[in-house]
Amino acid sequence: MAHLQIKNLHVSAGDKQILKGLDIDVHSDEVHALMGPNGSGKSTLANAIMGHPGLEVTEGEILFDGQDITEADPDERARLGLFMAFQYPIAIPGVTITKYLRMVMNAHREARGEEDISLKEFRKVVQAAMDLTNVPREFASRYLNEGFSGGEKKRLEILQLTLQQPRIAVLDETDSGLDIDALNTVAEGVNTVAKGSGMGTLIITHYQRILHLVQPERVSIMFEGRIVKEGGTELVEQLEAKGYGWIRDEVAASA
Ligand SMILES: Nc1ncnc2c1ncn2[C@@H]1O[C@H](COP(=O)(O)OP(=O)(O)OP(=O)(O)O)[C@@H](O)[C@H]1O
Ligand SMILES: [Mg+2]
Repeated sequence: MAHLQIKNLHVSAGDKQILKGLDIDVHSDEVHALMGPNGSGKSTLANAIMGHPGLEVTEGEILFDGQDITEADPDERARLGLFMAFQYPIAIPGVTITKYLRMVMNAHREARGEEDISLKEFRKVVQAAMDLTNVPREFASRYLNEGFSGGEKKRLEILQLTLQQPRIAVLDETDSGLDIDALNTVAEGVNTVAKGSGMGTLIITHYQRILHLVQPERVSIMFEGRIVKEGGTELVEQLEAKGYGWIRDEVAASA
């Protein structure tokens, strides 16, 4: 059972305050959807959870299984089982996808006190993950900084997710710019990992379509740096039908 709790989080970038007292939590075996208008702070929240160095937490806390990780560095968060999106270490030229995946996997094993994965075992695991996520075989030998398309990057993210089997994953607009096949692939990847390992997922999206495929238990709506509403999937339909005007009105009325 994993539990990510965010309490009264205030985050700023430079002198701009973006998150203004945000509470949210995600636990094992659930998909929690986060929606909200452009600029409300969703990506900032995702980045703050991962410990982005450009953001400052000025108040509040981030707890993982009760442990305060508000000041933990990104590596430590990853070791605890928080999923970080595929990173492109542009500073390391000549690293292929395969090599990178193996480095990441071995780093995780080392953190758990396990030995490096054998080449044979690694090939098997990667092959299975690539089949599941419909990542073409030839991607394996391509270089990390080699100009993948938006949709290809998202597939690679999900490939990494299935290999890493994190305890909590934060997926920021994983559906944006995906064609229908890729969207199904992403959803299948998330569902498979979630079912196999009890992963909890915070999924940030603007549209219903991916939420039909991964079916969130809870939906939270963010507005101007706070969560202003929490409910079930009926909220998604309301938003799709009515937009965000009524949320704005409700927030204004209660101010
Ligand atoms: N490093 C930064 N410096 C200054 N302002 C920033 C920084 N990062 C984000 N912001 C601002 O904070 C606000 C929230 O941005 P954020 O990217 O978190 O929104 P979002 O909810 O993810 O929006 P979208 O739906 O468009 O992805 C925006 O007004 C953005 O311009
Ligand atoms: Mg965003």
